[in-house]
Amino acid sequence: MDNADKKIILSGIKPSGALTLGSYIGAIKNWVALSDEYECYYMLADLHAITVRQDPDTLRETTLQQIAQYVAAGLDPEKNVLFIQSHVPAHAELGWVLSCYTMFGELSRMTQFKDKSAKNADNINAGLFTYPSLMAADILIYQADLVPVGEDQKQHVEICRDIATRFNHIYGDTFKLPEPFIPKAGARVMSLQEPENKMSKSEQDNGGCICLLDKPEDIMKAFKRAVTDSDTSVRFDPETKPGVSNLIQIYSVCTGKPFAEIETEFDGKGYGAFKAAVGEAVVETLRPIREEATRLLDDRSYLEKIYTDGAALASYAANKTLRDVYQKVGFVKK
Ligand code: TRP
Repeated sequence: MDNADKKIILSGIKPSGALTLGSYIGAIKNWVALSDEYECYYMLADLHAITVRQDPDTLRETTLQQIAQYVAAGLDPEKNVLFIQSHVPAHAELGWVLSCYTMFGELSRMTQFKDKSAKNADNINAGLFTYPSLMAADILIYQADLVPVGEDQKQHVEICRDIATRFNHIYGDTFKLPEPFIPKAGARVMSLQEPENKMSKSEQDNGGCICLLDKPEDIMKAFKRAVTDSDTSVRFDPETKPGVSNLIQIYSVCTGKPFAEIETEFDGKGYGAFKAAVGEAVVETLRPIREEATRLLDDRSYLEKIYTDGAALASYAANKTLRDVYQKVGFVKK
């Protein structure tokens, strides 16, 4: 299929910490499957990352690690445009314009803003507030059809559509209205320690979270300590058995086995054997990713080529939209 006929996808993850098993299963693994059918743009949202204070050297390093992990997890840089958000200035430029078409009231209603300002009470900055305008720019600048995101980002795609609709209404058709593309149920990985909550990189120290570059022994340890329940049966029931159900889901994704087969496999075997099996399945799933990412991180010039080429392709597409927008709002052509 010619690229011009393909639908466009854009998504991104903030390089504000290590990538988790949750971001692999819930996002990147799905992205890999889309690269033949769609024209895909996947970015590292470093501009968004600094809405929360980051250590500069750590941010730089995690950004490079994240690109290496994208590629190691199967995102072929020949088939996907992989780039760093700050390398494509058009995002920030369109973000500013769109912030002038985003209402204070709309931004005040964003649940992520409310959550994050509660968590960072000493740093409720304007960037945290206008985060959705920049995210709208990320999406609209590529005329994306679909935006693969988790449930928690759905509200941001909705406000993006509202901003696009408002702009189109004033200036005529400018932006395509994107749809959120939520992975099918079952792809949401929960914390191993608090299975009612989504697995989050903030839980790295208490064993609630697994990161893609974690060592096998640490992964095994975290699964052995995973919170389950006082029952003993391996049965999928997220309401009453959130911990066990989360483990079943993870095991199913890593082995390709359906839930029913897993329940039979561990019937009467108890949680100890089950948790060890899940740990091993995860170790084997992540092993090639970790090995390849480590190899790529030693080849900085190759990584640099990937993100430089990616930024050039992304800029080309992004600048087209930006020029149109600048013209429409009345800026003098350079
Ligand atoms: N806000 C997203 C998150 O926190 C990251 C992100 C930034 C994003 N820009 C985007 C996701 C554009 C999808 C599309 O996970």
